[in-house]
Amino acid sequence: MDDTVMVAEDGGVMEIRLNRPDKKNALTRAMYEAVSAALERADADAAIRVALLTGTGDTFTSGNDVKDFQQRGADPAPRGGSRFLPVISGFKKPLIAAVNGAAIGVGSTMLLHCDLVFAARSARFVMPFTSLGLVPEAASTLLLPRLLGQQRASAMLLLGEPLDAETAHAWGLVNRVVGDNELMPTAHDAARRLAALPPQAVRLTKRLIKHGAPDVAARIDEEIGIFSERLASPEAQEAFAAFMEKRRPDFSRFD
Ligand code: COA
Repeated sequence: MDDTVMVAEDGGVMEIRLNRPDKKNALTRAMYEAVSAALERADADAAIRVALLTGTGDTFTSGNDVKDFQQRGADPAPRGGSRFLPVISGFKKPLIAAVNGAAIGVGSTMLLHCDLVFAARSARFVMPFTSLGLVPEAASTLLLPRLLGQQRASAMLLLGEPLDAETAHAWGLVNRVVGDNELMPTAHDAARRLAALPPQAVRLTKRLIKHGAPDVAARIDEEIGIFSERLASPEAQEAFAAFMEKRRPDFSRFD
């Protein structure tokens, strides 16, 4: 097992750290698997009361590994990452995100499945799915309009407009913005407070808050169906190739 996802447990809190800073914590299939396995273990282990997600370095995560997208588009058989979304959206215990920098693509959409989101002042939130020839995932087409309103969600999901931490806070995507050095103490303080509460009352309250879960699961499936087809599309392949070759994509030939 490599160290691209680091898991540590202390006082009922499981910290899951995305740890591939040289690639801005871009998520590989192995990393999705490791995070999913950790969350499943946290749900099954009575000693774990809370999970906390963060990243190493200046980026929370730059989203799915674009090279991996490129390969999956060329070879549509294996579908890595597909377990992650049902696992994170179905996680029964409180899940806290400590967003230490840019949260791109699934880095932002996964936050819609977290119960508390703390952001460093340097954090920013971008969902550049259309510019990659893709569609959004993680039920963000359902949850983001619900949270922000349709126009703001469209600016993020259609145009890929980035949000800075303060705007994300003002719009309700983030609970609190703190100085970069205050991020982990703030997130761990909330985690410890949650871990000290009666666990059944906490789990039941989370279940009630997430009452809309059935349509979330259906939207995740619907998005993934279209998303998987898009991976192989010439538009997406052009976007991935442009990223890997460090050039601007050219979509002018597509109708
Ligand atoms: N997939 C694969 N590799 C990635 C990556 C990703 N999502 N994000 C960054 N990397 C790699 C870069 O290719 C680069 O690798 P190299 O050193 O071998 O050239 C390294 O990580 C550093 O990234 P770089 O772009 O040089 O850093 P930056 O500080 O200028 O920009 C980002 C950081 C995150 C803004 C930029 O890398 C980015 O936009 N990444 C892609 C985001 C994306 O489209 N994700 C998919 C969302 S669905």
